[in-house]
Amino acid sequence: MNQILIVESSPREDESASRKLVNKLRERLEAQHPEAKVVTRDLAKDRLPHLDQATLKAMTTRDPVEAESLKGALHLSDQLTEELLSSDLVVIASPMWNFGIPSSLKAWIDHVVRAGKTFNYAGAGVEGLAKGKRAILVLASGAIFSEGPWKSWDTVEPYLRQILGFIGIDEVQTVRAEGMNIPPLAIHAIPNGEKAIEALVI
Ligand SMILES: Cc1cc2nc3c(=O)[nH]c(=O)nc-3n(C[C@H](O)[C@H](O)[C@H](O)COP(=O)(O)O)c2cc1C
Repeated sequence: MNQILIVESSPREDESASRKLVNKLRERLEAQHPEAKVVTRDLAKDRLPHLDQATLKAMTTRDPVEAESLKGALHLSDQLTEELLSSDLVVIASPMWNFGIPSSLKAWIDHVVRAGKTFNYAGAGVEGLAKGKRAILVLASGAIFSEGPWKSWDTVEPYLRQILGFIGIDEVQTVRAEGMNIPPLAIHAIPNGEKAIEALVI
């Protein structure tokens, strides 16, 4: 394994359940793959701008003169995309906010899901260009979403699996700290997540 990319998105620092699990996962990855470079993209500490007009134009123009003049607008997106494409394993940590991912993580996705870079239009369909990579989702939520009556409200895991699949990453495992807002369940959430990390196939 050459490179591991860890994308963090909770702003809750030491209180964050997803960060606690990522720390545990990082320990396991570093022990198991000492040769790998670990790159951390912390979206809470290093905020990404949302896509603006110049960036969108630069991403979509077919005019080579316009593309050249707008090259600078793609600098950040190019850097983020390169980070992803150079990694063999991508860890994405996300809290559930209002049943979805935080907008900071969505901004990262908008920068890295790019025609010609991470996917291509192929005939009537689409070809993912980030093939051969694996991903681990580290998810934290106040309630329980892996099963039970709220499962269908979860737009975090299905969306992340869908967008990763879209760019060619189909091998995705998930670990969760769930029930964080339900005191009798919360005490088990981190230990359960840590057990799930031990059981990951890496
Ligand atoms: C703005 C906000 C929205 C939230 N929305 C939900 C939600 O829709 N469903 C849920 O189960 N928990 C929700 N929670 C609880 C978080 O998912 C929970 O605190 C989780 O531990 C956050 O991850 P973190 O500990 O890594 O920050 C919300 C928390 C915040 C701050």
